[in-house]
Amino acid sequence: SSVLVINGPNLNLLGQRQPDVYGQATLADVEALCVARADTLGLEIAFIQSNHEGAMIDAIHAARGVHGGLVINAGAYTHTSIALMDAVASVELPMVEVHLSNIHARETFRHVSYLSRVALGQICGFGPQGYVMALDALATRLLPE
Ligand code: DQA
Repeated sequence: SSVLVINGPNLNLLGQRQPDVYGQATLADVEALCVARADTLGLEIAFIQSNHEGAMIDAIHAARGVHGGLVINAGAYTHTSIALMDAVASVELPMVEVHLSNIHARETFRHVSYLSRVALGQICGFGPQGYVMALDALATRLLPE
C-alpha cells in the first residue's frame, strides 16, 4: 500500500524558518525520516510540498486510486481552508493530520483545524517524529496484520 505525504505553505523553508518554533531539521530531513520508516513498514511513499492551496487540492484529488492514505501538514491552511477539508472528504482516503509544533499551545487562531474534522486523528508537537507516528498510524489501517 502507498501513502502520500503532503506539506503545505512555508514548509519548504523548514530548518531556516523560525527554528525556535519548528526546529533545525529541513524538509529533506523529514522526507528521509519518512522514507526510512515507510521502508521498515513496507509502505510505498510519495512526498510533496506546495505553497499553493489549489495545487494541494489537485494533489489530494490525484491521490484517489493511487494512494491508500494521506499524511497532511497543511501549514496555515489548516486553520483557514474549507476547500482542503472538502477535498479530503471527497476522496475518502484515510488521512492523518500532522503539525511539527503543538498548535494548541500557541496563538488561539492556530487552535482550530478544519482538517481535523476529516482526519483519523491529529499528531502535533513532536517535530519531524510526528510524521513517523502518522505513518505508523496509517500502516495499522492499510497493511494486513
Ligand atoms: C504548522 C503549524 C501551523 O499553524 C503553521 O501555520 C505552519 C506549520 C506546524 O507544522 O507546526 O505553517 O502546521
